[in-house]
Amino acid sequence: MTFMKNIQLKDGINLSEFSLGCMNLPLSDSAETEKIIGRALEAGVTHFDTADLYQFGENERVVGNILRKFQADYDFTIGTKAGNEFDAAKQEKIGWNPSASHLKEAIKQSISRLGVEVIDLYQLHGGTIEDNKDETIGAFEDLKQEGLIRSYGISSIRPNVINYYMKHSSISTLMMQFNLIDNRPLEILDDINSDVTVLARGPVMKGLLSKNSKEILKDKFEDGVMDYSQSELNHTIDALSALNPDLTALSYGFLRHHNAVIVNGVSSIEQLESNIDSYNQMPELSQGDLDQIMAAVKMMKYEAHR
Ligand SMILES: NC(=O)c1ccc[n+]([C@@H]2O[C@H](COP(=O)([O-])OP(=O)(O)OC[C@H]3O[C@@H](n4cnc5c(N)ncnc54)[C@H](OP(=O)(O)O)[C@@H]3O)[C@@H](O)[C@H]2O)c1
Repeated sequence: MTFMKNIQLKDGINLSEFSLGCMNLPLSDSAETEKIIGRALEAGVTHFDTADLYQFGENERVVGNILRKFQADYDFTIGTKAGNEFDAAKQEKIGWNPSASHLKEAIKQSISRLGVEVIDLYQLHGGTIEDNKDETIGAFEDLKQEGLIRSYGISSIRPNVINYYMKHSSISTLMMQFNLIDNRPLEILDDINSDVTVLARGPVMKGLLSKNSKEILKDKFEDGVMDYSQSELNHTIDALSALNPDLTALSYGFLRHHNAVIVNGVSSIEQLESNIDSYNQMPELSQGDLDQIMAAVKMMKYEAHR
């Protein structure tokens, strides 16, 4: 039995601390996808993260259809994202467009594909410092006024963009890749407004922080990642495993310590079961534990967009 913690956004919406990232769901196997979503709900997951761009609209459509089947039995929220223009017929991304007119058109499409009346959490899917950010913020505020969204946020790993939205908008969430290896968000956590909730995407670093870490290190990290070579990663994985052999639970404990929502993606029911199991084994970390973790990993920094 999972005890699922909830984290409340400033707009009053409750997100399950462990939320399901839907980007890598096996959409072509609808039975498996439904099994994954059903199992997540049963385990207490109440938040589902998608984006209009994922599979060029198909992700929203499939996830929305499946969630509707569970509507009578469960309360849940959906977060989606916009800002990319794409051609669904050609399966092509066309470009970046955070204008008010684009967002106001894109939300109609997302609402229709998801089969909902209101989007619980609408997020800007990236963004640059050159964007007309005040226009984007105005569009989010209008959509909120019109009752089409309950809350809005950004997904960004650009310190200058994040800083602007902290100062000039009422975002309730900030999504960033955040885990033991990609710990770059640590550098900016102190500058994040206290009423903004961090959504940690990539919490298992594509499976590197899982029970299959050695295999995944070989298959997916041949060229290393960020400042790590493959052999440095191997060394770090060994050091972290000595602290806790369940690397997923350790990564979740690290994210809980930073009050983040864990947005975990899976592509199979086995991965979901394994991650739920780790969620249930999550350690409460002391300062001493954190010091040991930080001694085992490299301290990363955002290099660009400052
Ligand atoms: N810019 C953005 O806003 C942005 C960008 C990326 C993601 N996201 C969102 O964040 C969510 C999570 O991010 P993510 O999918 O990049 O990161 P993640 O949750 O760390 O990784 C998901 C992938 O890791 C592997 N995995 C998960 N659990 C595993 C386990 N127990 N054992 C072995 N491998 C496991 C799977 O890879 P395989 O499928 O290869 O087996 C899975 O597809 C996405 O689903 C999406 O909703 C947002």
